[in-house]
Amino acid sequence: MTNPEKSVIITGANTGLGYDCAKNIALESKTWHVVLACRDEKKGREAATRMISETGNPNISFLHLDLSSFASVKEFANSYIQNKYPALNALVCNAGISSDDITTFTKDGIETTFQVNCLSHFLLIHLLFAHLHLPARILMVSSELHRNDGPMKAFLPNYTNAHDLAFPEKEKADLKGSGNIRYSTSKLCMVMYTHEFSERFINKGITINAYNPGLMPDTGLGGLNKKLFQKLFLKYILPLFVKDAMSTPQRSGKLLANLVTSEKFEGLTGKYFDRDKEIAPSKESFDKNKTTDLWNTSVELTKIENEI
Ligand SMILES: NC(=O)c1ccc[n+]([C@@H]2O[C@H](COP(=O)([O-])OP(=O)(O)OC[C@H]3O[C@@H](n4cnc5c(N)ncnc54)[C@H](OP(=O)(O)O)[C@@H]3O)[C@@H](O)[C@H]2O)c1
Repeated sequence: MTNPEKSVIITGANTGLGYDCAKNIALESKTWHVVLACRDEKKGREAATRMISETGNPNISFLHLDLSSFASVKEFANSYIQNKYPALNALVCNAGISSDDITTFTKDGIETTFQVNCLSHFLLIHLLFAHLHLPARILMVSSELHRNDGPMKAFLPNYTNAHDLAFPEKEKADLKGSGNIRYSTSKLCMVMYTHEFSERFINKGITINAYNPGLMPDTGLGGLNKKLFQKLFLKYILPLFVKDAMSTPQRSGKLLANLVTSEKFEGLTGKYFDRDKEIAPSKESFDKNKTTDLWNTSVELTKIENEI
């Protein structure tokens, strides 16, 4: 049996894009130990068992992580460190939720989409930073919906400041369409984090890039969990208009896995990939006032003591 030399953590890896990314890394080489960081223990363990049988790679494990709780993120990081997995070479910040128009708050008192999609990944990177084995790679899963000039008007992001994202006023927050805006704004934040981390990682041997998987109607977030008419629209009508944007978790998961493992991407950092193509992210994602505001508020809300 091959002993794994390095490990990769993938958040939200029990299904969808995360599962296929994890599976492709496990398939590529048994030198990788793949850690599926999932919120639901049953789903996480079943996914690990299924992936072991599909890949023949026994080096796959589940570790509990609920991104809607900062305490859980800290517990996850501690268990990861104590478990003594092989050297941590990569982290894929993949898990995400889209919210509906009724605003919800986590136990930490923060708007749920912002905490799950953004703040908890920000905290996770900080907690694992010192344990990364160099050269290391971090991938931030974003979306083309991060653009404020995109074609899908209902999804245009609205970044005012990070404090408003964390603590939206209930009356404004519950307006029709606010769930879509919260989601696309969270994906903009993932690109903004990518820029800010990449500057701070310079000469530290860690690269960080953002990734758009394309539209995948066959995932929970992409359509499976939606109402029937939305499912049909996403699967059959939308592709007629945005054919090039369409993808599947199998295809995009493989491309994401490539960004983790392929030598071709060594040293590349601060980039935005639309599947296998590097393209420019939105201008807004480079807005220094906004990225600084996001960074400072993230430090404050996650109560990080040693920011990178
Ligand atoms: N689908 C698309 O068209 C599309 C397009 C662009 C970008 N993306 C991005 O792709 C990423 C993966 O989404 P997907 O399409 O594969 O959707 P998905 O099938 O719904 O997968 C999302 C994953 O995130 C996990 N998750 C949700 N809340 C969590 C929490 N509190 N703590 C830990 N994990 C949590 C889910 O766990 P459970 O199974 O327990 O819910 C699931 O494993 C997301 O970041 C999404 O924004 C998707």
